[in-house]
Amino acid sequence: MCGIIGYSGYRPAVPLLVEGLHRLEYRGYDSSGVAFDVLDRINVIKAEGKLSNLEAKLDSEMTLLATTGIGHTRWATHGLPVERNAHPHLSQDGAIAIVHNGIIENFQQLKDELTAKGHTFLSDTDTEVLAHLIGEERLSAPTLLDAFAAALRRAHGAYAVVLLSPEEHGVLYAARMSAPLLLGVGAGECFIGSDIPAFLPYTRDVVFLSDGEIVRVENESWEVFGLESLESRTSAKSVTRIAWDMHAAAKDGFKHFMLKEIMEQPRVIKDCLTGRLTGYGVDRRVSLPELDGLPVPSRLHIVACGTSYNAGLWGRQLIERMGGIPVDVDIASEFRYRDPILRPDEMVLVISQSGETADTLAALQLARGKGCRVIGLCNVVGSSIARESDVVLYTQAGPEISVASTKAMCSQMTLLALIALYFGQRRSPAVCDPSLLEALEALSGRLQEELPLMNERAKQLAEKFARTRGFFYLGRGCCEALAYEGALKLKEISYIHAEGYAAGEMKHGPIALVDSDFSSFALALDDDLFPKVKSNIQEILARRGRVIALVQRRGTGMAPRIEAEEVWELPASHPVAAGFLALPALQLFSYHVADYLGNDVDQPRNLAKSVTVE
Ligand code: M6R
Repeated sequence: MCGIIGYSGYRPAVPLLVEGLHRLEYRGYDSSGVAFDVLDRINVIKAEGKLSNLEAKLDSEMTLLATTGIGHTRWATHGLPVERNAHPHLSQDGAIAIVHNGIIENFQQLKDELTAKGHTFLSDTDTEVLAHLIGEERLSAPTLLDAFAAALRRAHGAYAVVLLSPEEHGVLYAARMSAPLLLGVGAGECFIGSDIPAFLPYTRDVVFLSDGEIVRVENESWEVFGLESLESRTSAKSVTRIAWDMHAAAKDGFKHFMLKEIMEQPRVIKDCLTGRLTGYGVDRRVSLPELDGLPVPSRLHIVACGTSYNAGLWGRQLIERMGGIPVDVDIASEFRYRDPILRPDEMVLVISQSGETADTLAALQLARGKGCRVIGLCNVVGSSIARESDVVLYTQAGPEISVASTKAMCSQMTLLALIALYFGQRRSPAVCDPSLLEALEALSGRLQEELPLMNERAKQLAEKFARTRGFFYLGRGCCEALAYEGALKLKEISYIHAEGYAAGEMKHGPIALVDSDFSSFALALDDDLFPKVKSNIQEILARRGRVIALVQRRGTGMAPRIEAEEVWELPASHPVAAGFLALPALQLFSYHVADYLGNDVDQPRNLAKSVTVE
């Protein structure tokens, strides 16, 4: 969480930093700030709340003079989200400024030590302690680089940090340990950022930094050092050209990124399938060459958080049924601490849009430590999870900016369906359900046609149900996972309490909540379990509960007879493809409820896009 950016070059740094912070604001938006070096003095400007508050303070001409600077947008970990806790933070003598993403776990011990030496602190943050520690080390270290490295060697925990000091005018130092940090290399300029969109308008040439590395940048020159002995590692680093463009990181006329990203799902499915299906007719097969070198696992452990976890639950049904592999699905923050039994012939599949989620990364490291092979399913190229997995499958959804994850889940589901089919083929080459492949290939066009209609229907229903006291989301089979996702999406952006349940479980307690002010969203799609869900809907109606039933028309073009306050009809489809139609319906409903209630859809309260703390 938290977005950091640094710039060294020839352009006015402050406007560029603020522009970059706008594209990083999805990582945290409790406060923001910039530091820049003019007339051999560090100037720091910061503000509580949204970035617009900071912009309102940046009216001095001085902000146009600096060509080097650092910026930060915060998701609070230590200390309230108030201005004094906003970054950048300064060393005791004010000669060093830093921005930081992560947590310095031993900050209290370091703070006590520095306090005993006469340091006084202006904030409650761990970051200010680190700034003071670097300043303290500078008193005895031969160079600023040595002081930076010495302080970082004493800091335990996670950090991505950028340092600015007039002692080396025009220079920035940055380092990473278990938190994302990238270097962007332009002509006559260098950028440092938590994520690629921070500097995407200026360069697509990126150097991925590894844990335990420090980089020194000055205009277009950059040099990478190992933290422990400061040996040069520059020759071992390569510059990667990123395929994303600015179009992918802009709203493109949509009111919110979330809506744009929901509407991108037809393209996402198409991109996920491109190059992954080969042969024709009955010989049509899934091709995942990334997995060809791996044995078929005797058991697969899927580990993830949030929406990615829900995708994993959905995928389990397919991988067990079509791939013939037993699957466990775990929440990463639990998996990492429960000492799971992992045998050498089993495999772990970690799913993460950002590739930086701290718990998922720790679960991956635990599995590898136990000798288990790890497949990573990631969206962000070069992310920590992508780099630390034995094999990575990229979901290719493009940058997801809205905090609420939408198109990422669609891309994860597409790949999970392909993985299920792929392992099925490996177990028995003759087995490949051509009707499913056909359905997946037709899906993109199908969804493209349906999305505008779904958007209209979602808006109508959202306005009708936005004031309800709470929501159940109910589903069975593959729809159980979608019910969890529907509820997560609604509570995340509308702040209405919502819970997802396996529909059959609802009568074991939760049904006590049902009354005429309580609503349920029932996923009653066209599968074997439809009659069971229909009965569960009756149980709610019998208690005067309000129900939206999401159903599918049958081959005849008619929807099934079902009783509910509102019936939302989706087109007929293959049972597996049905999930891809239901997912945007759930997303659009939440989107419109949140928008109708006037909430900040893309940046919901208390959240951050990438959860790099546990
Ligand atoms: O980047 P990841 O997929 O690892 O993120 C996991 C969760 O933090 C994420 O899916 C979160 O639940 C979303 N904000 C939900 O919309």
